[in-house]
Amino acid sequence: MSVPRPFSKGLAYGCWRLAGSEGAPRTSDAAGRAAVHAALDAGYTVFDLADIYGGGECERLFGEALRERPGSRERVTLVTKCGIRKTGVPAPTDPVRYDFSGAYIRECVDASLHRMRVESIDLLLLHRPDYLMDPSEVAGVFVQLHDAGKVASFGVSNFRPMHFEALRRACPLPLVTHQIEISLAHVQAFEDGALDQCLAEGIQPMAWSPLARGAIADGELSGKDAAERARIERIRAAMDLVAAEHGTTRPVVALAWLLKHPAGIVPVVGTVNPARIAGLRAAESLRLSREEWYRLFEAARGARLP
Ligand SMILES: NC(=O)c1ccc[n+]([C@@H]2O[C@H](COP(=O)([O-])OP(=O)(O)OC[C@H]3O[C@@H](n4cnc5c(N)ncnc54)[C@H](OP(=O)(O)O)[C@@H]3O)[C@@H](O)[C@H]2O)c1
Repeated sequence: MSVPRPFSKGLAYGCWRLAGSEGAPRTSDAAGRAAVHAALDAGYTVFDLADIYGGGECERLFGEALRERPGSRERVTLVTKCGIRKTGVPAPTDPVRYDFSGAYIRECVDASLHRMRVESIDLLLLHRPDYLMDPSEVAGVFVQLHDAGKVASFGVSNFRPMHFEALRRACPLPLVTHQIEISLAHVQAFEDGALDQCLAEGIQPMAWSPLARGAIADGELSGKDAAERARIERIRAAMDLVAAEHGTTRPVVALAWLLKHPAGIVPVVGTVNPARIAGLRAAESLRLSREEWYRLFEAARGARLP
């Protein structure tokens, strides 16, 4: 039991905002479930969650939405994450911390399975690197969860390349993805070794906030300081030129730009608007030229390449 590699050929749907988000407070359970249904109807097969999204509400809503569509569980690749402990829990003085102890990972998985009311998770990611991670302890619990039929495959999120490598060397099971922030407004992964490592190891990366939380789509920029607004407006202007050439939209260009990378980046889109969820899939058939890709990269960097 493991997910196929590559596990996706296009976009994934991210469920972080199903129960509301900053600037867009929760409306109703029905709206969250409708977003999942819109994604299923539009043909998304990879769904990204985390135990902490909406304090567990996103996993619960996602499970409900799947049950309303009989047969859908078998068609989706269910990704969820664990390993972040909230501040003030259980003791009021407890800080936010990351916990990759075997006991906590097992506890998180059981809680996620219970909330979603599913038998197994297809892909479990460690959400943010635990500074106290013991790779052999994590490898041990991964094998136990796999052998128990609770988790098919494993990956990580937001790791530094050598931290990733430490776990990869200790783990007899392959790490199939590294989920990191990548977008035209956040290009560090092209230069810090994270994407190079994915290419070298045959790991398919996932890109979170591929539209920079809406900033490089149609999101409001008024809350940003002047320098950041100018940076985003520069990137948007370059995207608009490419979009006009192809008769498409800025967000579709942003996603096609990620999809062109040879590591097979999986952009995880997070809109809860059903029309946008469907419309973004146009990115999967938009082919950008090398010249267009580099024009956009230059705008993102804010400087010509040497
Ligand atoms: N691993 C991690 O640490 C981590 C961190 C953050 C997120 N994630 C994952 O990444 C997923 C996506 O994150 P995200 O929601 O920040 O992604 P995103 O796709 O970059 O941003 C979505 C936001 O952009 C807004 N938006 C504005 N104009 C839009 C347009 N024309 N088209 C589409 N969206 C537009 C959406 O608003 P509307 O909803 O009103 O359309 C929504 O608030 C999350 O759901 C989660 O699964 C992972």
